[in-house]
Amino acid sequence: MAMQPAPDLTLEGLVHDLRNVLETISDSAELIAADPKHAKLAGTIRRSVQRGARMLTSFHESTLAALELDLILDMAIECSRDFRQAVKGPTIEFTRQIESGLRLRGNPAAWERVFTNLFLNAGQAMEGDGTVAITARGTERGIEILVEDSGPGISPKILPRIFEPHFSTRAKRSGLGLHIVQTIVARHGGEIAASNRPSGQGAMFRITLPRN
Ligand SMILES: Nc1ncnc2c1ncn2[C@@H]1O[C@H](COP(=O)(O)OP(=O)(O)OP(=O)(O)O)[C@@H](O)[C@H]1O
Ligand SMILES: [Mg+2]
Repeated sequence: MAMQPAPDLTLEGLVHDLRNVLETISDSAELIAADPKHAKLAGTIRRSVQRGARMLTSFHESTLAALELDLILDMAIECSRDFRQAVKGPTIEFTRQIESGLRLRGNPAAWERVFTNLFLNAGQAMEGDGTVAITARGTERGIEILVEDSGPGISPKILPRIFEPHFSTRAKRSGLGLHIVQTIVARHGGEIAASNRPSGQGAMFRITLPRN
């Protein structure tokens, strides 16, 4: 029989230790913030730490009421903006057409991870400035969410493999982003499919979720 890991080596133990790391970064950000010259940078660090702390709760099943899709998108877009600023990358313009009142059931921190990964990928695929268009509507079966970008799109050769763990076309990346996305969507009873935009250039991700 396989041995159970000792309690200090479980996910719970890792989360505990990571919280200490986040606390150190957060305290350091407060020291940096004392210099007005670095106030903006300190803000980015502070938000990143809060994001990390939220993410550490994304394993738990949520008992919270479903969160508005718009609010989840706000958090993921802010993350993508902070990331672009930190790497001094080109900017992305986000557009949204969200049917009013759409809510996502489950863990909001997990949903934040889904959209953050999709937006980071879109930005990393783009050569320069670009756009990400998010469309969401209620359907007969549930909810449909489209994320379309203005990047180069995904070559048909690699399309069948992009959700595989450790599949990446980029140097020094783990290739886990889309696998995480697919796992979280599936855990909420949904599906995700990738394709290229039917009109114009760029990649398109379609998430379909059941009503309940
Ligand atoms: N929006 C996109 N446009 C073009 N190609 C994409 C897009 N999103 C994903 N891909 C392709 O799918 C591959 C897998 O994506 P995934 O997010 O799983 O891994 P990654 O981004 O390479 O690494 P990681 O997410 O671990 O940093 C990418 O390497 C890229 O080739
Ligand atoms: Mg990725």
